[in-house]
Amino acid sequence: MSDPFRPYERLVEIRILGRKFLVPEKNSLLRCFQFISPETVPYGRFCWNQECQYCRVECQFPDSATPATLLSCKFLVCEGLRVTALSDELRRCLKDKLARK
Ligand code: FES
Repeated sequence: MSDPFRPYERLVEIRILGRKFLVPEKNSLLRCFQFISPETVPYGRFCWNQECQYCRVECQFPDSATPATLLSCKFLVCEGLRVTALSDELRRCLKDKLARK
C-alpha cells in the first residue's frame, strides 16, 4: 500500500476544537486529519478535490486574530494552526479522537 502522506521531516502542533495534535508538515489539513484518524477519514465522503465542500473548516492562524474558512483538502497545514469549527462530516470522522482524554 502506498503512503498517502507527502514526505515530511517533522510533526507540527495544531489544535482542533481546543485539543492538541501532532501532524505531518507539508501535508494538506485533510491529510493531517487522516493522520490523526486513519480508520475513519479515508472512508468519509470526501472528494479530496475541492468539489464536495465536506472538508470545510474554520481556522485561526497564529499571526491573525481573524478566523478564516477554508477547504482542508486544499490548505497546507502550518505550525500553531487552530481549527475552531469542523464540517459535519469531519466532526463525525474525528468524533472519537476529539472525545478521547
Ligand atoms: S474533500 Fe471535497 S472539497 Fe475538500
